[in-house]
Amino acid sequence: MENKVTPWEVSGKVDYEKLIKELGVSKLDKKLLERIKKHTKELHPMLKRGIFFAHRDLNWLFDEYEKGNKFFLYTGRGPSGPIHIGHIGTWMFTKWLQDKFDTELWFQFTDDEKFLFNPKITHKEVEKWTYENMLDIIALGFDPKKTHFLIDTKHASLLYPEAIKFAKKINYSTVKASFGFKDSMNIGAIFYTSMQAVPAIIPSMLKNKNIPCLIPLAVDQDPHFRVARDVYPKLGYYKPAIIHSIFLPPLTGTDGKMSSSDPNSYIALTDTPEEVKNKINKYAFSGGKDTLKEHKEKGGNPDIDVSFQYLRFFLEPDDKKLKKIEEDYKSGKMLTSELKSYLINKINIFLAEHQKKRKLAKNHINKFIFKIK
Ligand code: TYM
Repeated sequence: MENKVTPWEVSGKVDYEKLIKELGVSKLDKKLLERIKKHTKELHPMLKRGIFFAHRDLNWLFDEYEKGNKFFLYTGRGPSGPIHIGHIGTWMFTKWLQDKFDTELWFQFTDDEKFLFNPKITHKEVEKWTYENMLDIIALGFDPKKTHFLIDTKHASLLYPEAIKFAKKINYSTVKASFGFKDSMNIGAIFYTSMQAVPAIIPSMLKNKNIPCLIPLAVDQDPHFRVARDVYPKLGYYKPAIIHSIFLPPLTGTDGKMSSSDPNSYIALTDTPEEVKNKINKYAFSGGKDTLKEHKEKGGNPDIDVSFQYLRFFLEPDDKKLKKIEEDYKSGKMLTSELKSYLINKINIFLAEHQKKRKLAKNHINKFIFKIK
């Protein structure tokens, strides 16, 4: 299968080494991890495990930080369906960064993007998902005093005047080549990248001084910033630094990414314990052998086993426990059914807690939505 990585489609086996070269990003190496650890005292499991694997300008960001020029965080969500466990890896990591560096976070909800790119969805539906998705994001524990939600159509008076400045400096031929747009693409979609570029300058604009920005994302979102990158200095701002995550795979196998456009590929944060159990048991691709006898003799392959990969992403943060599971699975001591029930239990414990916090979030939305003065 041909491999494709764009903000709207990820298919085939993703070759991350090749992506690093194609996008012109840098590998997150040991030296840089040490530099992060100097400030955070410990490394987040997603850094230790190579889930975050690449970056742009992180050394520059820390040069500035060490000179006393603090950064802010920026990330976002395209609200067209339920949040799934694939989305929240970058956000849990973003929260860790917010806590460790005591930073502001600007969080963009791209209701315009989802309306423009999804031929079937109405703007009313996107508005409903914006609200629903906000509850999940608040439930992850961001600091309400330091977190600002921007909704593209609701904050248009703030965002649009800046977006046109980006749009004026980006050619149609550039977005066409970067995203593979056909001539039949609607003109709103062609404009969209300039909206995603803007939150990286908003705090600098509001405070009238240049503030460094760090964007945590999965690598599918990098092309927007690749296109907008050269424009930032032309408008008098720093280029944002970026830290890139790999994709949490879909239930069905390690190709592509977990995606809300395929209901059999994901576990939603609103799923019930029964749904989680059924989905994992029915769909989660196994790296185990065909028969019990063969599995016990030869062992399973955790690298292609979706349940193991979910534990590695964030569902088993304890390194020792994860190592033991990996060894037992590889040796054949642990069976696929045992690995699956371990994962089901982990997800359901996580979701029970999350769903409680999600209910409480309903009373706090207004604290998070940015108020334009
Ligand atoms: P969206 O809503 O498609 O995805 C939200 C975030 O989740 C990441 N992501 C994943 N990460 C790991 N595994 C997966 N299977 C997976 N699927 C999605 C995405 O890379 C993203 O970081 N246009 C954006 C919204 C946006 C944004 C931003 C994202 C606006 N500004 C700045 C990142 C940074 C979107 O539709 O994301």
